[in-house]
Amino acid sequence: GKGNYRHFMEKELHEHPVVLGDTLRQYIDPSSRAAVLPELPFDPAVVPRLTLSACGSAYLAAQVGRYWFEQIARIPVDSDIASELRYREPVVPKGGAAVMVSQSGETADTLAALRLLKQLGQKVLSVVNVDESSMARESDGKVLTVAGPEIGVASTKAFTAQLAVLACLALGFGRARGVLSAEDEARLTAALLEVPAHAAALLENGEDIQDLAREVVQARDVLFLGRGSLYPIALEGALKLKELSYIHAEGYAAGEMKHGPIALIDPAVPVIALCPSGPLFEKTASNLQEAAARGGRIMVFTDAIGAPSLRRFAERVVVLPTVDPFVAPILHAIPVQLLAYHVAVLKGTDVDQPRNLAKAVTVE
Ligand code: F6R
Repeated sequence: GKGNYRHFMEKELHEHPVVLGDTLRQYIDPSSRAAVLPELPFDPAVVPRLTLSACGSAYLAAQVGRYWFEQIARIPVDSDIASELRYREPVVPKGGAAVMVSQSGETADTLAALRLLKQLGQKVLSVVNVDESSMARESDGKVLTVAGPEIGVASTKAFTAQLAVLACLALGFGRARGVLSAEDEARLTAALLEVPAHAAALLENGEDIQDLAREVVQARDVLFLGRGSLYPIALEGALKLKELSYIHAEGYAAGEMKHGPIALIDPAVPVIALCPSGPLFEKTASNLQEAAARGGRIMVFTDAIGAPSLRRFAERVVVLPTVDPFVAPILHAIPVQLLAYHVAVLKGTDVDQPRNLAKAVTVE
């Protein structure tokens, strides 16, 4: 049941710390601070390319995974939504591998893409939450997220658990390929192991996000911006807001604004930006400043390092815990989910069962 929570989604949001802890403990050895790879159907040291595919939020988790596999493990990656990949006549290399991501393990398009990639000779590894699912059965290998049952239609804890698994895989692959030093691996696993406590702190201090929700609920359109591994999280923020509150939202890469979307900037269209400190901070901040100069109302998620300079032009600054840039997408996923939740509650929409949606999409 829902216990003391109003909705399954609220309960599942509050399970983030436990789920992240359970999932990370599965794939990190805390004493050696090394990523623990599951049994794999391919050798990550020599795999020529990974094809990533999934649908919806699971696809956005895969998109974050793509940044990690490239940056940390230096593996060439192709990624696409499953409904496109399956009809694209994709070109895959001999000896290549695929990583599919799915909470249910039953999504029709993802399952079809999995079957196609197997037919094309790829070794398929699935990141799934349901062990006895079709995808778990049909894959050459599986990695389980330890999220427990997810009842709310909108993915919450399963999404961050997918990110946690992909992060650990990227570290393990980086080590296997000889491109990640033991020192860096220890630093990055330590950063991951701190995420559950940061998630708990963030869930306890949700007032800024509720205030932000009171602004957002009045909007007809909302823009979400991010760069690098925060770009897929901006897309996730927009997806969650659309599906839960029925408010039109778009996610963009911050650097793409001047190629069209900046024309949308208007005081009536709140701009929600994900801008933690890190190598891309200055670039993102300057894109936001350009939007502010054109009358955009900037509302930003950042950390204590990024906050002072953003406060000069942003209308609202929500300060999240300061973390290694590697884990920032996991931490930022939680407030964008919370924001969509609070906006939906304010609007009175059906949070656990949004209109027209099903938990597992078993038809294409
Ligand atoms: C969005 C959401 C969906 C699912 C998608 C894939 O909040 O939950 O976009 O992520 O339908 O579902 P699975 O992960 O079961 O393959």
